[in-house]
Amino acid sequence: MSATLITNIKFLVNATETPALLKGKDLANLPVLENAYLIISNKKIVAYGVMEDFLHHTQTIKEVIDAEGQMVLPCWCDSHTHLVFAASRENEFVDKLKGKTYAEIAASGGGILNSAKRIAYSTEQELFDSAYNRLHELIKLGTGAIEIKSGYGLSVESELKMLRVIKKMKEKSPIPIKATFLGAHTYPLKFKEDHKGYIDLIINEMLPAIAKENLADYIDVFCEEGFFSKEETITICKAGMQYGLKPKIHANQLNLSGGVQAGVELNALSVDHLETMNDEAINLLAKSNTIGTLLPTAAYFLRMPFQPARKLIDAGCTIALASDFNPGSSPSGNMNFVVSMSCIQMKMLPEEAINAATINGAAAMELQNEVGSITKGKIANLIFTKPIPSIAYMPYAFGSNLIDKVMINGSFYK
Ligand code: NIG
Ligand code: FE
Repeated sequence: MSATLITNIKFLVNATETPALLKGKDLANLPVLENAYLIISNKKIVAYGVMEDFLHHTQTIKEVIDAEGQMVLPCWCDSHTHLVFAASRENEFVDKLKGKTYAEIAASGGGILNSAKRIAYSTEQELFDSAYNRLHELIKLGTGAIEIKSGYGLSVESELKMLRVIKKMKEKSPIPIKATFLGAHTYPLKFKEDHKGYIDLIINEMLPAIAKENLADYIDVFCEEGFFSKEETITICKAGMQYGLKPKIHANQLNLSGGVQAGVELNALSVDHLETMNDEAINLLAKSNTIGTLLPTAAYFLRMPFQPARKLIDAGCTIALASDFNPGSSPSGNMNFVVSMSCIQMKMLPEEAINAATINGAAAMELQNEVGSITKGKIANLIFTKPIPSIAYMPYAFGSNLIDKVMINGSFYK
């Protein structure tokens, strides 16, 4: 099999043969090779090392790419998005600028319910086309694996519609996708006073239909005051777990919701958001196997205090970073910005932010054996930066597009 050789890479980032989920202070361990080469064959990484050692290589090389001055790193692994939606919500954004609160907008039929109304009137094809365009844009920004949630359906028909769109995206996408069922995103109007009725619908109708068509990998619940309680979250997740869906929970965004406790109790793959934490929740998470996924652009967009990343890392938690791309609280899926913001606003070190957005993000989708590091046998989904002076320059120069090109499955993505 002939191969592609990339030479003179200034920094080859996260190059390791022992990639592991990084907990606590280990998050700062980012293996970097300076002045390196990389060989790719049949869509996969097959070899790498420092340039001085290259002469010992015996591979048949078909193509040589000189990456003089560039940094090469694994693509971003975005483990929390709501990429399928029918319409943007910038009118609510402007209403908020004029003084309305998120709760007032939600109470007047805006927010998640607004998105649900639009999903109900959209066809599967329309939803697929718009979501696929967003995916294309994100890949160009360096995303090389992604999780996508339902949750703007809120009826059997519309939740299945969203999940079928995600399934079709999985089939067509050049990057790995994981699907999460988020039927418990909010109570639809019809069930506003009948929570048991909606939970029964999720458990008795949605879940069996989803399992039958194999439409989801994970189950999610918005565990939050005014949405789903800790007890309701546990009930719904346990029902999903009966069908093999591991929990990934929206937890502690607006309040100390008990979401972290629920996640740890259920041995969830991740608990996501974590804007509102206390010592009890932090220590509980630190002792668990559950990943804490931070979504700083959601905090930024809603003008909330940022997640206490430093405290979480110092306490020994396992941290991932994701975009939360959605029309209500994070209308951007730009992981470069997420990484910058994590350093600027949450005092994560550049090495920590890159690890949290690559290998730990991959683990938060159970894709750590396929993506998230430069490791022999992993898929060649790679970011090539423009020439840059140091690794820290990437989060530092926020707002500049530092990506020169993105490689997906060993070919440059157009
Ligand atoms: O992750 N927090 C709940 N769900 C989304 C926002 C939903 C919306 O406003 O559309 C989030 O932030
Ligand atoms: Fe979310």
